[in-house]
Amino acid sequence: MTWGNNKKNGRNGNLPNDAIIHMAGIRKVYDTGKVQVEALAGIDLSVQSGEFVAIVGPSGSGKSTLMNLIGCLDTPTTGEYSLAGEPVSGLDRDQLADIRNRRVGFIFQNFNLLPQISAFENVEMPLLFGAVSKKDRRSRTKELLERVGLGNRMDHKPTELSGGQMQRVAIARALAMNPDIILADEPTGNLDSTSGSDIMTLFSELWESGRTVIVVTHDMALARRAARTVELYDGIITRDVMAEKI
Ligand SMILES: Nc1ncnc2c1ncn2[C@@H]1O[C@H](COP(=O)(O)OP(=O)(O)OP(=O)(O)O)[C@@H](O)[C@H]1O
Ligand SMILES: [Mg+2]
Repeated sequence: MTWGNNKKNGRNGNLPNDAIIHMAGIRKVYDTGKVQVEALAGIDLSVQSGEFVAIVGPSGSGKSTLMNLIGCLDTPTTGEYSLAGEPVSGLDRDQLADIRNRRVGFIFQNFNLLPQISAFENVEMPLLFGAVSKKDRRSRTKELLERVGLGNRMDHKPTELSGGQMQRVAIARALAMNPDIILADEPTGNLDSTSGSDIMTLFSELWESGRTVIVVTHDMALARRAARTVELYDGIITRDVMAEKI
């Protein structure tokens, strides 16, 4: 299977200045009124274009908070962040939404599909926001669903699909705008081991097609597929290692 992306393969090595994600001194404090929670307490992280990174760490260590910042779903309390060379700190809501739609594909543990509409319409949605013509939308959506093995389920609603199938719809949707970066937060957390293994294979293929893939996971089988593991504990990075063998 090919993903039709002819960007360079991350395993062929990257120039050190080729960081697609660059964070320095990132702190995120949630203010809930009564208490302040410092979810991230000073993160310095650079990810090169084409890397496959697993983010691991105990519950509450800040993994989802970090993913939300990387994906521009939220902004840091302090610190510097640039995405593909663009400083994110100074951007307003619309600009953040634009950079997110163009650059980032998100995949969540609970799939986050819209339940009332079909698999096809779920995948088509980002293309509607991306102002793609109807003809191109239709052909791209069909192609993506076929690539994730759901060519025969396009008209099914999420409730008429299995967990693994729903996650494949979510992956197809994340890929709709051909993003450079795929962010997945516990993508196999709600799946049985066979469906989880199919999803892991999809991520490996996406990485091989040249995309930057960042996955939060408790699943050591998925973490082992990544070339680099970043471990969080209490909002700081306690370990950042490259796999010995890729
Ligand atoms: N919206 C929020 N408001 C207030 N506190 C929050 C919010 N989101 C997260 N937190 C707190 O920030 C800390 C980090 O949470 P986060 O969701 O990033 O952890 P996590 O590593 O993803 O955990 P898990 O493995 O359970 O998903 C936790 O102490 C959490 O309670
Ligand atoms: Mg989380």
